[in-house]
Amino acid sequence: DFWAVVPAGGAGTRLWPLSRESCPKFLLDLTLRGRSLIQATWDRLLPLTTHTRMMIVTGNAHSDAVRDQLPDLLPANLLAEPSPKESGAAIGLAAAVLCLRNPDAILGSFAADHMISGADAFLSAVSEAVATARYNHLVTIGIAPSHPATGFGYIRLGDNLEIPEAPNARIVSQFKEKPDAKTAASYLSTGNYRWNGGMFVVKAQFLMDLLKEYQPKLAEGLEQIALAWDDEISREKALREIWPTLPKIAIDHAVAEPAALEGKVAVIPATFGWDDVGDFTSLSEMLPAEINQPRILGDSSHVVTEQSAGGIIVPASGRLVACLGVDDLVIVDTHDALLVTTRARSQEVKRLVAKCREAG
Ligand code: GDD
Ligand code: MG
Repeated sequence: DFWAVVPAGGAGTRLWPLSRESCPKFLLDLTLRGRSLIQATWDRLLPLTTHTRMMIVTGNAHSDAVRDQLPDLLPANLLAEPSPKESGAAIGLAAAVLCLRNPDAILGSFAADHMISGADAFLSAVSEAVATARYNHLVTIGIAPSHPATGFGYIRLGDNLEIPEAPNARIVSQFKEKPDAKTAASYLSTGNYRWNGGMFVVKAQFLMDLLKEYQPKLAEGLEQIALAWDDEISREKALREIWPTLPKIAIDHAVAEPAALEGKVAVIPATFGWDDVGDFTSLSEMLPAEINQPRILGDSSHVVTEQSAGGIIVPASGRLVACLGVDDLVIVDTHDALLVTTRARSQEVKRLVAKCREAG
């Protein structure tokens, strides 16, 4: 039985001031097509299963917004966390709960905030991943890398697994989460690496076994919480007492890296379009371009430019934004904050946000 699980946490600080802790990236309609990233994720996953087998794991602070945006989500399938513990605990909680509900469940975890194009290629990659997961593999999706990014996991492709229903499935001979720039560049030059697409398909029980092996404290805590889940009073007690003690660790470090060393991770190389829309530069690349013009996200009648090519302007305050003679700028104007930076440095907005916090 295939369950689609969407862990939705993290603020997406590199897209500040569009995304905020109070309104993270996954709740935003970044392409202005009428669906937020989490809604688009829901739409993309629905053909793989039924709405009764779609699960979202999010923070307490965002559970109302998620419920509003996804009216078909069953209340029992919305798992709310008292505090962020990263993707290890979020995906692990879904696995622990699913093991009790359905011991044969296969879980596919999909990031809440990616943009994907090519629905047929996506669905066929996931169905190969499901077939591979039946053979007790943690299955990832490998994205062809375009540059030595340091914000992704890297997967080294090993031998083909010769699974009839998954002709493209290969073993992962190494998984390295977020290497430094030099290491990333050396991986790229071999031509033998893929980016980890942030999707994991695995038997729920097998994931719990892996967690028990590599992160016993996390596994044990999650199992106790899952046992208490269906009764509100016991659940609240378990979340109050056990959740704060859980290790805070990403699934990639917790499980994917050590499991790859033991030959337990597989990969399906993707043929669909993929973008994690991490910063304003990658966001701008999704927007239609006109020669010698900046790209505009929003109402273009609020933007006037002269000799200001490249870059991106987000007029989200209702104010007029006017530029003269400045190329490749990122200008994001919201009602209470204005960001001005360059395309080349939009990755570093994260650091700036930390500084803004200090400044109060
Ligand atoms: N519920 C919940 N709680 N979800 C969380 C939490 C949390 O505390 N922390 C992260 N998530 C969710 C995010 O919303 C996202 O859907 C997923 O878990 C991955 O977390 P990110 O924080 O976005 O990870 P990342 O982007 O740094 O790295 C991951 O994704 C890359 C691709 O975009 C890794 O899997 C990399 O290996 C991968 O390349
Ligand atoms: Mg991410």
